[in-house]
Amino acid sequence: MKKVIIVGAGLAGSYIATLFPSDYDITIITKKTRLDSNSMLAQGGVAAALDKGDSPQEHEKDTLKAGNYHNDKQAVKQLVNLGPKLIDNLISQGMNFDRSSDGQLAFGLEGAHSFHRILHAQGDQTGHELTKFVQSIIRNDIKWEENTTVLDLVIEKGECKGVVTKNKNGKVTVKYADFTVLASGGLGHLYPLTTNDQTITGDGIALAFRNNVELKDMAYVQFHPTLLTKKGKCYGLITEAIRGAGAILIDENGNKIMQNTPQKDLAPRDVVTRKLKAWQQKGHKLFLDISHIQSFKQKFPGVTRNLINHQIDFETTKKIPIQPGAHFFMGGIKTNLEAQTSIRRLYAIGEVACNGVHGANRLASNSLLDCLVSADKAAQSIMQAPSNNNKNFVQYDDLTYKSNIEPVLPSKDELLEKTWKQIGVVRSKNNLNIFLKWLDKFNYKELSPEKISSENLTITNLCICAELIAKSALAQPKSLGANYIKGV
Ligand code: SIN
Repeated sequence: MKKVIIVGAGLAGSYIATLFPSDYDITIITKKTRLDSNSMLAQGGVAAALDKGDSPQEHEKDTLKAGNYHNDKQAVKQLVNLGPKLIDNLISQGMNFDRSSDGQLAFGLEGAHSFHRILHAQGDQTGHELTKFVQSIIRNDIKWEENTTVLDLVIEKGECKGVVTKNKNGKVTVKYADFTVLASGGLGHLYPLTTNDQTITGDGIALAFRNNVELKDMAYVQFHPTLLTKKGKCYGLITEAIRGAGAILIDENGNKIMQNTPQKDLAPRDVVTRKLKAWQQKGHKLFLDISHIQSFKQKFPGVTRNLINHQIDFETTKKIPIQPGAHFFMGGIKTNLEAQTSIRRLYAIGEVACNGVHGANRLASNSLLDCLVSADKAAQSIMQAPSNNNKNFVQYDDLTYKSNIEPVLPSKDELLEKTWKQIGVVRSKNNLNIFLKWLDKFNYKELSPEKISSENLTITNLCICAELIAKSALAQPKSLGANYIKGV
């Protein structure tokens, strides 16, 4: 029986678990519960060229343009061609996407798409509906290990043999597998304003770094233009589908911020976010004017509930207070088109992985699609590969760090204040260097994951990601997409 360990229970991790036949022994390990992931929070939808008049070629063109042509072209072709087939297959298994009154699939519009091609479910609750549906078709005999942290990978002679975990009672265990699949998401909580689930702290990327797994495109963090913000705090995403339905970005005087930009409010996210930041720096406040949208509450029930919960009077003012914030990571663990990493028997899928599909700026609603496509490719590859016959497993004790040193770490607040200013939307060579010099004071790279507290492990993982982002940003010859460096 082939054993597969999946780390992460968002859409990518849950979907791959549905793809193996019953003679596979599958375990899904997740830091909190199966309900805690970025996928569950995704609002807008899934992009797929399924409407009449649209085509994968048009979707490919939009993905490349939004990605500033930094994308891996084969990965984009794979996404736009395989994606619609996987969506069709999920629909035939019972997934309900929203339909118009004639029973046809209803397609929304989002930034930088030339066609209405965004499938959605329950209006703006697509990620929740899709992930829940996929989890509902996972076999009953699959093992779930919730509230369990993966501390390390077990790697011997360039081959991954499993993971080291710690459960909520602090018990550390080595778990061996024929194949390990990382699906643990990005690093949104490296920044103080983020749309991401609270569990998303760069863990998979730090795990890969500690084990010398190759990484790619670390400079590219996507900041979404519209996070609901009140008194400087973020209360979740305001989906781009609202701009697709006609909302306009304005300031406190009603000036239309995107007026003079090609594609206006539906320009790619990196372009809109930079414009909003520049406007903010002039002392303006930012709003989304929703006065042109008919039946707002019916179309966007999830956002409506969130606005009401946070006492935002959008019904009288027809305005929602917003600010840009961290949303998605285009970089990550380097993979090929089969989701294989630089370590044999180790796969990476979804946001933690980088096969180059998103380039320097992801096109809206391509992330859930990529979860499906990368999971499908990884599953096919695993099913064709032989099992690991070498059962003479190394002892984890031989692999682990021996260090028992006292952590010297920044506080999370201190770190996040600096990441926002120095490795955020607008960067400068000077700030990147200052940031790296500051990070140099701490010993996060010398700490042994199983010997420190969970809080310190999170800070350690975030520091590793921050260093990698700053170094990669500095190494780029010019500003591109989400990596904007003043004067470069
Ligand atoms: C949104 O609904 O605006 C987010 C969708 C995405 O990240 O592509």
